[in-house]
Amino acid sequence: MAASPVPSAGHHRGSAEDEQARDVEDAIVRRVAEGAAEWFPQVRTGGAPRLRRLVVRPRAALYAVHLDESPVPHVLAKLRRDAPGDVTGRWAGTRPRLATGPLPTSETAALEFRGLSAISAMIEPDDPELTAVRPLALLPDADTILMDYVEADTLRDRMLGRSRLPLARPGWRRGPEDGQWQQVGAWLRRYQQTMPTTEVPARQARREEVVERITAYGEYLGARLGHRAVGDIARRGAELASAVLPERLPLAVVHGDFAPRNVFVFPDGRSAVFDPMPRSAAPRFDDLAAALVAMRLLGVQLHTRGAAFSRQDLARRERELIDGYFGDEQPALAELHCYQLLLTLDRWSALVEERPAGARGQLRRMSVRWASGFLRGEAGRLADLVERETAGPLPR
Ligand SMILES: Nc1ncnc2c1ncn2[C@@H]1O[C@H](COP(=O)(O)OP(=O)(O)O)[C@@H](O)[C@H]1O
Ligand SMILES: [Mg+2]
Repeated sequence: MAASPVPSAGHHRGSAEDEQARDVEDAIVRRVAEGAAEWFPQVRTGGAPRLRRLVVRPRAALYAVHLDESPVPHVLAKLRRDAPGDVTGRWAGTRPRLATGPLPTSETAALEFRGLSAISAMIEPDDPELTAVRPLALLPDADTILMDYVEADTLRDRMLGRSRLPLARPGWRRGPEDGQWQQVGAWLRRYQQTMPTTEVPARQARREEVVERITAYGEYLGARLGHRAVGDIARRGAELASAVLPERLPLAVVHGDFAPRNVFVFPDGRSAVFDPMPRSAAPRFDDLAAALVAMRLLGVQLHTRGAAFSRQDLARRERELIDGYFGDEQPALAELHCYQLLLTLDRWSALVEERPAGARGQLRRMSVRWASGFLRGEAGRLADLVERETAGPLPR
């Protein structure tokens, strides 16, 4: 990832916030100094670890920690923060959601650390296809986790490297993404088998809840965009979900943000899924459908209404991911595509919600309208698929 031009975590005058940040940075440096010899026995450390701030976002700050003079850091520190304006336990905005509310910041670091540890433990070091990002330490008082620094593309980077739009391609050479989608599908299956569902709250465990959410997204979109712009996709979706889903949906612990941007592709071709937030048990297709939605609705694809990736290209990735997940099991495509329709409406609502006022707002309204046509098409495609998948075998 690109480092900010800030060369080190230097601070200005002592506002309370600066002071707090300095305390956390000191705690990170101390913890790395303490653990370095155990975590990196081969590294000859020269003096105190050096901290470099990479990015500061509303909800997280990332730091790289260097142990020696090498330009490649050894440790990545991820600090969770309360975004300004956050109200504990309530989502900002009014759009429908699948989870009841955001987690308190104090819980997210521990949950991510637990997730990373479980992922690490489920993959053997000599696995030819999968690997993991090694978690190093949790600093509970600092809402921070430490892990190995990884120098690798994400699967999203690799995908963008294959875009049909030269402008969307990153300026440096990217490797292939062969086999990754299948690996990532198999990873999800293994993750679901590893994580016990009994320790976390459940959501959307019943068909009725899914149908209700589809209807809620439809009402929200209709109210914001007008019923003409949205069409009858939510009504169709709700009918199909009623017909296709079992009364009780089999649950699995979520990864929570299962998407190409959260997969590293190592130079040797192995994949590592990171950024887990195993906060709830959800229908087992939740993560799989989320990855399909993220893959099909990458920003460049959405805002060019499908110019960046060809249909065949997307269908190939989708097939590989689904094959990897189901393995020898008969894929439950109608159920999966139903759930994918729900998550497509969720993504559409998220796009509609972020709407600044003023001249920028005007521009965004136009681009939301523009993208909405594409999203309606994608939702319709999924509904058509579910219909076809449930129509039964054609008469001979
Ligand atoms: N262990 C790591 N080593 C190097 N870079 C990382 C590491 N973890 C995350 N990153 C970089 O930071 C970005 C955001 O990290 P992520 O954990 O996905 O945070 P978020 O919760 O904000 O999505 C990633 O896309 C990647 O570029
Ligand atoms: Mg992420």
